[in-house]
Amino acid sequence: MTSPVIAGRAPLGTEVEAGKTYYWCSCGQSTKQPFCDGSHKGSEFVPQAYTAEKDGKVWFCNCKHSANKPLCDGAHKTLP
Ligand code: FES
Repeated sequence: MTSPVIAGRAPLGTEVEAGKTYYWCSCGQSTKQPFCDGSHKGSEFVPQAYTAEKDGKVWFCNCKHSANKPLCDGAHKTLP
């Protein structure tokens, strides 16, 4: 599998609303990070749906290498 583009090397803290579904960019090419803008079209990547359980801030992975996608797991610290 092709590696995603590293959109950024720090997570993006984002306010979300309970029950709302968000589409996280997995390819790293969206200009609307951390969300999908359709840039993955023609690639093997598809956005990942995330439904918020409660209102508040969550930290979306922006390096695209988290093992806990779409949320940050600290993997951005160990990328080459
Ligand atoms: S931003 Fe990707 S693991 Fe932290």
